Amino acid sequence: MIKKRPYQETYRPQFHFTAKKNWLNDPNGLIYYNGEYHMFFQHNPSGIDWGNMTWGHAVSPDMVHWEQLPHAIEPDELGTIFSGSGVVDWDNTSGFQAGEESVLVVFYTSAGEFAPKETVYTQSIAYSNDSGRTWTKYENNPVLSNLAKGNRDPKVIWHNPTKKWVMALYLENNDFALFGSSDLKSWTKLSDVHLPDSSECPDLFELPVDGNLDHTKWVFWGANGRHFIGTFDGEHFTAESDVLRTEHGANCYAAQTWSDIPSSDNRRLQIAWMSGGKYPDMPFNQQMAFPCELTLRTTADGIRMFRKPVREIETIHERRHTWNDERLTSVTNLLDGIEGELFDIRAEIELGNARAVGFTVQGEDIHFDIDTQTLTCLEKSALLQPIDGRIELQILIDRSSIEVFGNDGRLSMSSCFLPDMTNKSLRIFASGGEARIISLDVFELQSAWSA
Ligand code: FRU
Repeated sequence: MIKKRPYQETYRPQFHFTAKKNWLNDPNGLIYYNGEYHMFFQHNPSGIDWGNMTWGHAVSPDMVHWEQLPHAIEPDELGTIFSGSGVVDWDNTSGFQAGEESVLVVFYTSAGEFAPKETVYTQSIAYSNDSGRTWTKYENNPVLSNLAKGNRDPKVIWHNPTKKWVMALYLENNDFALFGSSDLKSWTKLSDVHLPDSSECPDLFELPVDGNLDHTKWVFWGANGRHFIGTFDGEHFTAESDVLRTEHGANCYAAQTWSDIPSSDNRRLQIAWMSGGKYPDMPFNQQMAFPCELTLRTTADGIRMFRKPVREIETIHERRHTWNDERLTSVTNLLDGIEGELFDIRAEIELGNARAVGFTVQGEDIHFDIDTQTLTCLEKSALLQPIDGRIELQILIDRSSIEVFGNDGRLSMSSCFLPDMTNKSLRIFASGGEARIISLDVFELQSAWSA
């Protein structure tokens, strides 16, 4: 039976963002300002499938509890409104600021292919002087003319050492380019970036290595999560790694990181679209992944990006079940009797002489094979190296998604699934031998829509 109350419907995710109704895809214009996380998103205001691209808008105090606001940017004669980013223009470099409030500026692609009179793809801007509640498009749009057929998805950052704005833009194939500006309105090309196997939705950001603010690296990121770790001098990005990936799930795409997180917090926060998934008979289509914190850490393989859920998940923690130092075999199921749809599970498991360990969630296996050192969830597999004979897992389970994070975020897997609504059971298992639970916490979660 389909429940009808908004945000309570059968397959409605309860702590992953969905549009109240209709289609969404990429997160856009991620800005933190005045205690609010802004998230704009690719939205079809009038259809359950992709089309009529418009920027939807939602705000949250914590990236978990969202309120959807009126649509922010609507199609015009330059085209529909494709993906892009946003910043706070603290020093009013654009001259758009009207009062005391700092001005928010967003950058988007005018998708000329879908204009009333078909034209080319260009880049445009809009600004808000009321904390993002209303938006004015710049009168001289576009700010960047067409450079390659489908060029799109401008991501703008402030580069403090060279005191200028930098835009990363997707051009075509696996090619991206960087542009510089002093006023957000006129842009000049700085350099090219080639990211093999990737296209669309670039991101460019700096991160400390192992938390050391005196030792930082830059990340250049494409829509499918492939990224380089390297250096950026304000003009050129230089890769120092192979093409890397942390995320190996079935449905993570077009992730972007928030701009203007206060230095007192200093986290690099990212949210992705969970591309795909099925939501039969639902008023909405598609969901966002759960927000993650990104860090760079030194590993035996070199510097790698770690990706793990933001700690704000704790705002919806409800009942906690805890175990320490327990035998894990094929015959006992410590989780017998715990039923539900929404969980945050955290486990550290010593592998012992077992051949496999894992969880079964509503009939779906999350399975670590010890011989091959592979973690498998919803038909996707990835390598996860045990550390001192142990693995650590965090698993977020919502209605219609399972997200698994291995070894404190060394690996992440975000996947959609269509839950069997008659099976709400949980199981933890070892097979082929005996393993040991060092620690296990199962948090039942509240819905973010009712909390
Ligand atoms: C990525 C993408 C972007 C584009 C947007 C259109 O999913 O194709 O490149 O701007 O979606 O909705």
